Amino acid sequence: MLLCCWLALVALVPLTLSTNPGVKVKLTERGLEYGRQLGMATMQQKLKSIKVPDQSGTEKVSPIGKVQYSLSNMQIVNVGLPQSAVSLVPGTGVKLSIGKAFISLHGNWRVKYLRIIKDKGSFDLNVNGLTITTSIAIRSDETGRPVVSSVNCAATVGSASIKFHGGASWLYNLFKSFIDKALRKVMEKQICPLVASAISDLNSQLKTLNVLAKVDQYAEIEYSMVSSPIISNSAIDLNLKGEFYNTGKHQEPPFSPTAFSLPPKTDNMLYIGMSVFSANSAAFVYNKAGALSLYITDDMIPQGSPFRLNTRTFGVFIPEIAKQFPGLMMKLLVKTVKNPIITFQPNNVTVQATATVTAYAIQPNSTLSPLFVLNMESSVSAHIFISGMRLAGAVTLNKMDLTLGTSYVGQFQVSSLDNILQMVLKVVVIPKVNAQLAKGYPLPTIGKMKLVNTQLQVLKDYMLIGTDVKFNG
Ligand SMILES: *[C@@H]1O[C@H](CO)[C@@H](O)[C@H](O)[C@H]1NC(C)=O
Ligand SMILES: *[C@@H]1O[C@H](CO)[C@@H](O)[C@H](O)[C@H]1NC(C)=O
Repeated sequence: MLLCCWLALVALVPLTLSTNPGVKVKLTERGLEYGRQLGMATMQQKLKSIKVPDQSGTEKVSPIGKVQYSLSNMQIVNVGLPQSAVSLVPGTGVKLSIGKAFISLHGNWRVKYLRIIKDKGSFDLNVNGLTITTSIAIRSDETGRPVVSSVNCAATVGSASIKFHGGASWLYNLFKSFIDKALRKVMEKQICPLVASAISDLNSQLKTLNVLAKVDQYAEIEYSMVSSPIISNSAIDLNLKGEFYNTGKHQEPPFSPTAFSLPPKTDNMLYIGMSVFSANSAAFVYNKAGALSLYITDDMIPQGSPFRLNTRTFGVFIPEIAKQFPGLMMKLLVKTVKNPIITFQPNNVTVQATATVTAYAIQPNSTLSPLFVLNMESSVSAHIFISGMRLAGAVTLNKMDLTLGTSYVGQFQVSSLDNILQMVLKVVVIPKVNAQLAKGYPLPTIGKMKLVNTQLQVLKDYMLIGTDVKFNG
């Protein structure tokens, strides 16, 4: 006992040391109610699998004496679960109560008495007023997924009635009550294990939680639980890591999630809160992977644009370029130099990026001759939306500030390049970023979950997704 408690304590240590979650998920009573509806169909199927073994024995029945009997081939023909309810038990789990349930069974009987008289027929047994109560405990498994189990199950049968077909009625009336009792016991004994099995069957669904959701070649998101589920009287709250990592290489960023709490809303089945930390961990990963850089060539500029990526266009603003590199095409490299910073304010998602823009002239032998390096501070606004089971976005440019980093073509007025670089951002860089953002980032999901009646709201430091869910198949 001591050893087991100690082991349990050791198992809890990493949880108490864990950091704040990046993502929070709240399952409301409405969500639980939907779960009950789905679960009852499974429960009914389970209880239909009750197997009543053949029964035989001898009973003394006056006035005829010993009667040998056997009951065989008993099959459940119907299970009804007309009344069930789930409720939250704070700190513990979920209580499931099933009332007024009934089970009907059909079987064959056979008797032998007075040494030579044999008789047989069939019978129907109806078990009514069946009550089942159990608690469902929820915890986190070693992979950070939720697991459920049935604890403290109790099943009682209110009444049973048996109806014999064929044979002499005087006889079976004599031991009817005995048979009632025997069969009731057999069934009561099987109900709780089947209930436990129906509940643990849910784990195969829960095991599909995408604790490591692949995003693309660079990144994956970890959605494992960082602490045990918190059960209050209105919801089950799960704390998930909600952190982007480089695929296969889990390096922590130089910042960590700050605590946040979801508003006490209960209209939807599910609420998902994603912190700005999650978004910033993505920025960290993509920047570190070198994914936030882009070479821009003239073929990426729309045909109709008067600005071309050549030394003639740039020569208008910086005459030295036209003089030193006449008639050449150019190439720009836009590259972030530190992690873009994402902020969430109510109804406002802003991304600030610090980048460099390096301009090159392309020599006829393909050598790139550097012309200048600009420092670029830009700010974009993001619109975030749900697309299937993914979170997607689109950004628009707010502002851009340029300063000179290095020039290989003498002094020039940086502001003279504002228009051309704004155009490059708007028609090349931002569409590329948006094409990427439109692909979306997987949300935490279980099985074939679909979101319906979904709203997304950006609040201070996190965004809140309120949604109902639907499971198909
Ligand atoms: C959004 O927030 C940023 C700072 O986080 C601010 O500069 C900007 O003006 C805000 N935009 C709106 C539309 O409120
Ligand atoms: C390519 O051409 C440039 C300009 O004519 C020259 O300076 C450079 O050495 C050449 N590079 C190679 C590898 O030929």
